[in-house]
Amino acid sequence: MGDIVIVGSLNMDLIVRTPRIPAPGETILGTAFATAPGGKGANQAVAASRLGAPVKMIGRLGADDFGKTLRSMCSAVGVDTKFVADETEAATGVALISVDEQGQNSIIVVPGANGRVARRDVDTARDAIRDARVVVAQIEIPLDTVAYALHAARSAGALTILNPAPARALSREILRDVDILVPNETEAAQLTERAITDFDSAAQAAAALRELGAKRVVITMGDKGAVTVDENGQAARVAAYQVKTVDTTAAGDAFVGALAAALGRELDWETSLRMASAAGALAATKLGAQPSLPTRAEVEDFLLTAQVRSL
Ligand code: RIB
Repeated sequence: MGDIVIVGSLNMDLIVRTPRIPAPGETILGTAFATAPGGKGANQAVAASRLGAPVKMIGRLGADDFGKTLRSMCSAVGVDTKFVADETEAATGVALISVDEQGQNSIIVVPGANGRVARRDVDTARDAIRDARVVVAQIEIPLDTVAYALHAARSAGALTILNPAPARALSREILRDVDILVPNETEAAQLTERAITDFDSAAQAAAALRELGAKRVVITMGDKGAVTVDENGQAARVAAYQVKTVDTTAAGDAFVGALAAALGRELDWETSLRMASAAGALAATKLGAQPSLPTRAEVEDFLLTAQVRSL
């Protein structure tokens, strides 16, 4: 099993269940409140670790109670946090998450310590990156650090995965170091300035992202599945599975973490995508980010009987 290094954010998620997302200026009553560990980087690290991958995380936490809790929760599921530094100048990142009755969410992130993850953090973990089979990044940390980490990973011969979330303009220099770009449909639409409504428009957006430099592109589309364009420019659809959606938070992170774990095990591309799609579907069946991420046994059991969603 190949090592996976995740460079990214760790947040404490403050979650409110609400009948609907309020309009500007409106006050409404929520139905429940919870805190849970989150952050796109940490979620992807935990997702890969629950699927049995050896995972090392590079990031920063504030010297506060949220930071201590997040570090111990990551370690408890087997993620190596040796390269998660203590940040004295900023608080641990937090995310304010509203989840409506359909399980759809809206998220505001205050990056705090995540905004201070820097090249020196990547340098400190250079040996881990050299030994990694897969290196994964998102963009809830400074883009310069992401670019630096992807370049170091590519130079060391690792497979690089970038989940461009939250969406920001990406240069050709960054995309040239990306083996697999995994945006969701909103991020892909923002990155390409194209409307994505169906398989054809998603395949065209994925092809446009490939032309900018990414070798392969996977656009995740929630309950519509995913659309991929491979290194030969061949487009394909990945089926979504039928589940009862409770909260879609971290479904995309489960997909990315599972894809990294499967490719780290050298599973073939189609099997890896199927595991990723199953992990994403299962993550949507529970409230919260990390509490919803499935184990390898749960994913494998689910795939024995899972029904594909018809389009
Ligand atoms: O992708 C879901 C995550 O986005 C949440 O856990 C939140 O912390 C934000 O980073």
